Amino acid sequence: MRVLSGIQPSGRLHIGNFFGAMRQHLALQNEHECFYFIADYHALTSGPNPADVARYTLDVTMDYIALGLDTEKTIFWRQSDVPEVTELTWLFSCVTPMGLLQRCVSFKDKVAQGLAPNHGLFAYPVLQAADILIYKSDLVPVGADQKQHIEVTRDIAARFNNTYREIFPLPEEHIIEAVAVVPGIDGRKMSKSYDNTIEMFEPEQSIRKKIMKIVTDSTPVEQPKDPDKCNVFALLKLMASPDELADWDKRYRNGGTGYGEAKKRLAELIVEYFKPFRQKRTELENNIDYVKEVLAKGAERARAVAVATVAEAREAVGLGARL
Ligand code: TRP
Repeated sequence: MRVLSGIQPSGRLHIGNFFGAMRQHLALQNEHECFYFIADYHALTSGPNPADVARYTLDVTMDYIALGLDTEKTIFWRQSDVPEVTELTWLFSCVTPMGLLQRCVSFKDKVAQGLAPNHGLFAYPVLQAADILIYKSDLVPVGADQKQHIEVTRDIAARFNNTYREIFPLPEEHIIEAVAVVPGIDGRKMSKSYDNTIEMFEPEQSIRKKIMKIVTDSTPVEQPKDPDKCNVFALLKLMASPDELADWDKRYRNGGTGYGEAKKRLAELIVEYFKPFRQKRTELENNIDYVKEVLAKGAERARAVAVATVAEAREAVGLGARL
């Protein structure tokens, strides 16, 4: 099975990204042939600062390598290093009905959040379909919010195959079940756009400080507390062993334990968990040439596949024929 997924370069990755996607991406490497890329063409749809696009691309790459990306086995590259994908996007645009894109909720959500409704944002799912189909991927691990885009991808593949000839396999989504919603320090879903994240590799002091600021209710220390309503407990669930978690559950319900104590332990668990990876992350920062080389090699391997697929598709639609 060929597995493929894209990650937007929108900054340093945080604990929500880790539990919501990265951990699963990394686990899939052991079972399948994986293609992962940094979706910098997609990032342009939200008008980022040009310097940030490059910087965040390196940040995300270092985060993945530090956390265990197998750079020999897995193909990891920067989307824009394989520009053929934009040509396939065009071929797909010409078999994509407007109505299909008009039904996409992600576009509507982003516009509601204040993004400019440019054509790139509207056509975003067509580029995503090209990302997936140019590598003839079988399985696409994504969060639930991306399910519709994979459905659109299948629809576009089927339309192309029916209009011209059978080139593209129809991919399946592999919905990454969130272990739970990972709350940020204000209790809302952890997300860069809410500015409530805890990054995996920010300075340890800063991780501790943020954790002490996690919003809780004001139940006094001696009174019983409901673990299921507590943001600190929700994070402990991700980090603590089952035995330790059972113990915290009891302590919450019995009363006599304050949130401060739980926060201190949570900070310790997070710092300890990411410690070995942090060391690796620092080594990478001091060896950027190696990081760039990983991306360059990945692009070369990805491109070989992409070029072959685009040649097939061009031929099928009647482009580039000898005149
Ligand atoms: N749209 C995805 C997201 O925002 C990123 C992405 C781009 C992607 N191309 C892809 C995901 C192809 C899976 C497959 O998360």
